[in-house]
Amino acid sequence: MEDAGPKRELFLKTVKEWQASEADACERIEKLMKRVKSPLITTTLDIMKQDSGRHKTLLQIIIDSIEGNKDLVDIKELADLSSTLREHLAIESKMIHVASNTYESSQQYIVQYIASFILADEKKHHEMLNKLLSLAEVKT
Ligand SMILES: [Fe+2]
Repeated sequence: MEDAGPKRELFLKTVKEWQASEADACERIEKLMKRVKSPLITTTLDIMKQDSGRHKTLLQIIIDSIEGNKDLVDIKELADLSSTLREHLAIESKMIHVASNTYESSQQYIVQYIASFILADEKKHHEMLNKLLSLAEVKT
């Protein structure tokens, strides 16, 4: 938790400005999407738009945690889910392997573009799950 007082207010201000930038990016991408029809461009822009929306939601969690002192993670819930999350970690590892093989076995730029994008996502999912599982160890 951030310190109370001016430092806390400045931190909150920065996070809220960041959140506003994400909302702005979302709107700009939406406008841009109206100008394109190609599936690859449309999908890339749509993913960026959805990511901006998710960033906005994540930043709201930070704001809520500072302003409302909300309990954001139920450690018991996390512990109950841990074996299922570990199973999912194995699925993500498999996806990393498939995406990596697809990327390396193709010479086509478009295939590599898509496979590298998915590969980055699968690595991110793997890391997210690992960090979530670590949280249970840190908090217990
Ligand atoms: Fe995944």
